[in-house]
Amino acid sequence: MTTILIKDAQIVTMNRNGDIITGDILIENDRITAIGPDLNPAHADKIINAKNRTIIPGFIQTHIHLCQTLFRGKGDDLELMDWLKKRIWPLEASHDEESIYYSAMLGIGELIQSGTTTIVDMETVHHTDFAFQAIAESGIRALSGKVMMDKGDEVPFALQENTTDSLQQSVDLLEKWNGHDDGRIQYAFSPRFVISCTEELLREVRNLSEQYNVKVHTHASENLGEIEIVQAETGMRNVVYLDHLGLANERLILAHCIWLDEQEKRIIHERGVHVSHCPGSNLKLASGIAETPEMLGLDISVSLGADGAPCNNNLDMFNEMRLAALIQKPVHGPTAMNAQTVFRMATIGGARAVGMSDEIGSLEVGKKADLAILDLNNFHTYPSYDVDPISRIVYSATRADVETTIINGRIVMENRILRTVDKDI
Ligand code: GUN
Ligand code: FE
Repeated sequence: MTTILIKDAQIVTMNRNGDIITGDILIENDRITAIGPDLNPAHADKIINAKNRTIIPGFIQTHIHLCQTLFRGKGDDLELMDWLKKRIWPLEASHDEESIYYSAMLGIGELIQSGTTTIVDMETVHHTDFAFQAIAESGIRALSGKVMMDKGDEVPFALQENTTDSLQQSVDLLEKWNGHDDGRIQYAFSPRFVISCTEELLREVRNLSEQYNVKVHTHASENLGEIEIVQAETGMRNVVYLDHLGLANERLILAHCIWLDEQEKRIIHERGVHVSHCPGSNLKLASGIAETPEMLGLDISVSLGADGAPCNNNLDMFNEMRLAALIQKPVHGPTAMNAQTVFRMATIGGARAVGMSDEIGSLEVGKKADLAILDLNNFHTYPSYDVDPISRIVYSATRADVETTIINGRIVMENRILRTVDKDI
């Protein structure tokens, strides 16, 4: 058994009471087994002195494209359909086994360095096995899948696939990776968006997701041009069409959801569909501003994701939390999306979306040990602990403040500057 004892930390989590306490956390193997003052196990393999440090649950990002990490800076000033056709699809088509592996590894490195411990990831058409390889080696918790694109005139030849192959390759990957490393890796079917998928494929994805009890991860209602195409091809709006095919259920994670009408909101709420809000991407691709305060008010499950690196140039969840709060303020007022709300979306909200709220998303005894240790003393405020730590994390923290990241009880990043004197502040 591997035992890690974290001593004297300020523990910030959205558990049932939302308490902020100072104390110790004991990790045995992959789980938190005790939280409290003065824990002293007979034996700890490692003791981390976390005095003046803040521990938070690892962030859960519900919409990521690891395969796009290497495309950062390509197509910085385009809107969605041009960006896909002119830049992203040709670049995805150029991936080989090695480039997708490194793209995934570099993306995961950024995520772990900025305190993200779980992702819902969508790859490209080919070579997804090598992205799974990177996920497996890195230690990150992930739900991932090969993108499915069996339709679309504008798709480059190298990305075109037929329905049978798309489904068969997805099932092969699922059978190889779903449940790997004691469930740290899960498969998620990833039909790219309605525009790129036939009805036959989407119906079969629905059946397979039920058969294997895995998630379906797709984009919807991101851009007005996209919605127009969906309407012309199906006669319906995105979410109505997905519901018509039986896909709108609690296994569905829908990225963006900016331009929902009342019927779509009702379907999402009634069927328990999960929305992944991507504020950085929505701004950069000029897609729009999602109505997150309204969605949360309707008790819709909303979590956060950075999308791909070229969508916002940054996979840092601190950035997404901050943007999610800031973009609502000019129109809906200063408290419409407060720090607590976005911190909840970034942690326990993401856990709910991936169906793991009993396992991750907060720091509680019995849960998986997925957490980040922050040094928030880089800010010049005094006395430091009079500042609400959640406000501080949301409005001021960056990736540079993450000292240690632990996933499944394993230290996957340790970036602590060695200090000869640990000052009391
Ligand atoms: N819609 C379909 N594909 C994509 C993608 O790769 N990124 C974003 N942001 N939206 C999409
Ligand atoms: Fe995306």
